[in-house]
Amino acid sequence: MKDEDGDGAANVTDVELFLKRNKAARTALQGDDKYPGGDFRSPECVALLKEADIVVTNPPFSLFREYVAQLMEYAKKF
Ligand SMILES: C[S@@+](CC[C@H](N)C(=O)[O-])C[C@H]1O[C@@H](n2cnc3c(N)ncnc32)[C@H](O)[C@@H]1O
Repeated sequence: MKDEDGDGAANVTDVELFLKRNKAARTALQGDDKYPGGDFRSPECVALLKEADIVVTNPPFSLFREYVAQLMEYAKKF
């Protein structure tokens, strides 16, 4: 993270400024008729998962078994 506001420190304010100044830096994840955008089971999230070598997460524990099963299915380290 660069020092976006020039105050001599890189912190969360710089993250906020970066996101405000670079609209293209964030795009909403697409869902489908089965899962909303950002759901780990949605096609877009599965495609992103396939690109990953390692998954570091604080997962939805109510879906823990399904989530870990997916990580195992795609042979991801987590
Ligand atoms: C244990 S919390 C972690 C919260 C996170 N560390 C944070 O600070 O916002 C699990 C998160 O998983 C999200 N979640 C629940 N169901 C999900 C799903 N099917 N796919 C992706 N994320 C889900 C919840 O909204 C929640 O933010």
